Amino acid sequence: EKGGYDYFMLKEIAEQPKAVADTLLGRIDNAGSLTLDEVRIPASVLREVDKVVIVACGTAYHAGMIAKLAIEHWTRIPCETELASEFRYRDPILDRRTLVIAISQSGETMDTLMALRHAREQGAKVLAICNTNGSTIPRESDAVLYTHAGPEVAVASTKAFLTQLVACYLVALYLGQVRGTKWGDEIRAVIRELASIAQDVDQVLETMEPVRELARSLADKDTVLFLGRHVGYPVALEGALKLKELAYMHAEGFAAGELKHGPIALIEQDLPVVVVVPSPRGRSVLHDKIVSNIQEIRARGARTIVIAEVGDETVVPYADHLIRIPATPTLLQPLVATVPLQVFACELATARGNEVDQPRNLAKSVTVE
Ligand code: F6R
Repeated sequence: EKGGYDYFMLKEIAEQPKAVADTLLGRIDNAGSLTLDEVRIPASVLREVDKVVIVACGTAYHAGMIAKLAIEHWTRIPCETELASEFRYRDPILDRRTLVIAISQSGETMDTLMALRHAREQGAKVLAICNTNGSTIPRESDAVLYTHAGPEVAVASTKAFLTQLVACYLVALYLGQVRGTKWGDEIRAVIRELASIAQDVDQVLETMEPVRELARSLADKDTVLFLGRHVGYPVALEGALKLKELAYMHAEGFAAGELKHGPIALIEQDLPVVVVVPSPRGRSVLHDKIVSNIQEIRARGARTIVIAEVGDETVVPYADHLIRIPATPTLLQPLVATVPLQVFACELATARGNEVDQPRNLAKSVTVE
């Protein structure tokens, strides 16, 4: 049942190109427009939405953080992403024009379920992004967009995360399409890129041997830090979460701009720091800033592990280890940048003798608050 792999997690990492392609299947028409008729919230309602609130936990929350950036960019609708466990207890401001998106692989996470129940009581419309047919969260939502990752068995979420991202992009682009924004051309271009993104994920998977080697060489470290900006920040958080839950190491993700506000004090000789570098095209300001962040930490002795786009030569002098990912539109980069971090955590866990599919103290679906 593990299809020749030692662990379900390895199998599920390898299944990601297919999971991504399956989640796109039938949702982009021949003309390059999105058809999300299955999302049974009428276009007239979506056009009236004046705020989007995303609720989720753990890895799904990281997908939600990325979705916020995509939704705000392509639709200009204000969007906030909140941990489901915090949301309900602060009396959030919601009404009929609020669209709440609940993201959950299992569809049974109690915190997320409670958050969406609260949202519906306030009159908000709830759209679930879920991987499990007929589970509680989609049943209690106004509409659902299913991710087609197939069953995810390993406790640590991998392929479900990538498909959550795809579903989030689809919703963001669809909202943009339905409402019409000045980003129409960009939306069409990104839809074209999405249609072939599974191949990029596949390409990353084919180049993972050096990442595994690197992970094994770090097996006796205590701490690994992760830095990113913009969409790279949630990717950094996800890389750190994977490492905590699988390798039981102290791992933290930071927004790179926060370094000098505290975390830079943690940098010491030979501390491994993974940096997710945004594309040098498009938002080049961000790129320049992160290159100086890499220089800052390296000057203080950090061992830099740099994830950067193919062809980005500016980072080469400051990278102790360089992990290449294919070029993608800025907002889609998490689909390729997360994969090396999954492989890294899985290999480190194995090297440390941990049980990869069943990390200690964790359950696949958290049905208590
Ligand atoms: C991390 C992980 C968890 C889940 C979280 C939400 O690898 O698997 O953080 O992402 O418990 O679970 P779902 O998506 O089922 O609501």
